[in-house]
Amino acid sequence: MIKVKNLSFSYKQNPQVLSDIQLEFDQRSTAIIGQNGAGKTTFVKLLKGLLKPNAGQIVVKGQVIKEQTAAELSRTIGLVFQNPNDQIFKRSVLEEVMFGPLNIKMEKSEAKEKAIEALRLVGLEHQLDINPHDLSLSEKKLLCIASVIAMDTDIIIFDEPTIAQDSNGKEKIRRIIRTLKEKGKLVMTIIHDMDFVAENFERTIVFNQGRVLADGPTREVFSQKQELLRAKVEPPYITQLADKLGIPGTILTIDEFIAKYHSVK
Ligand SMILES: Nc1ncnc2c1ncn2[C@@H]1O[C@H](COP(=O)(O)OP(=O)(O)OP(=O)(O)O)[C@@H](O)[C@H]1O
Ligand SMILES: [Mg+2]
Repeated sequence: MIKVKNLSFSYKQNPQVLSDIQLEFDQRSTAIIGQNGAGKTTFVKLLKGLLKPNAGQIVVKGQVIKEQTAAELSRTIGLVFQNPNDQIFKRSVLEEVMFGPLNIKMEKSEAKEKAIEALRLVGLEHQLDINPHDLSLSEKKLLCIASVIAMDTDIIIFDEPTIAQDSNGKEKIRRIIRTLKEKGKLVMTIIHDMDFVAENFERTIVFNQGRVLADGPTREVFSQKQELLRAKVEPPYITQLADKLGIPGTILTIDEFIAKYHSVK
């Protein structure tokens, strides 16, 4: 669905933030991980066309994004920002979520339908008239997720969706990602919560100093200890525990741990 070729980027005269990135994305749910400042947010902003590459090319669904207008791209790629305050600007929850669909010229009735469906998915369907700024941070993040889901794009990117979410909120995000995946959408998520990565994503890409340091099925990536150490990424606790206990293979979840633990005990 996305092909990234020789992509490089820097903010004005500053040092290079992304260097020669080569990546292809298919429908697998994908986590993008790596330390602060590794270039993850910059990368997804380039995919969304919010920044222009210094070199290289991004092709989304067969079309070079440089040749697409922002409006065309917003029909294909949705991006939920790291900070909800960068995204929210309307006076009510419903208006906020309807804005995107209306902006891509959806009929008002369809826009409302999509908005309510998306709000139901994130659990905010009873707060349609509330001012978004009166919501809690975790609700604001869910509202921003709904705004993007309502656009019904084939590709949805989340930047740090689990920040400010308690276990209930994380469970909601888990369910949202699963639902979107079942609908055949490509879900890409920048995330620092490694337990969440291990439990929810088929593929994991590790960014380090503007380059791709590791990329593959999540289990394979979490077995590459040296690369993770270099990228300052700590594997999930359960993976580390299993490793310390000498359980063979790479354990990703508590259920896997229990199954393997009994068999090696
Ligand atoms: N608007 C900007 N102008 C100049 N430099 C920037 C700008 N935005 C980001 N940078 C720099 O680019 C580099 C990559 O930043 P980016 O936000 O892409 O990292 P990140 O991997 O998303 O980090 P985090 O995990 O902290 O969100 C950092 O050195 C950052 O300081
Ligand atoms: Mg970031």
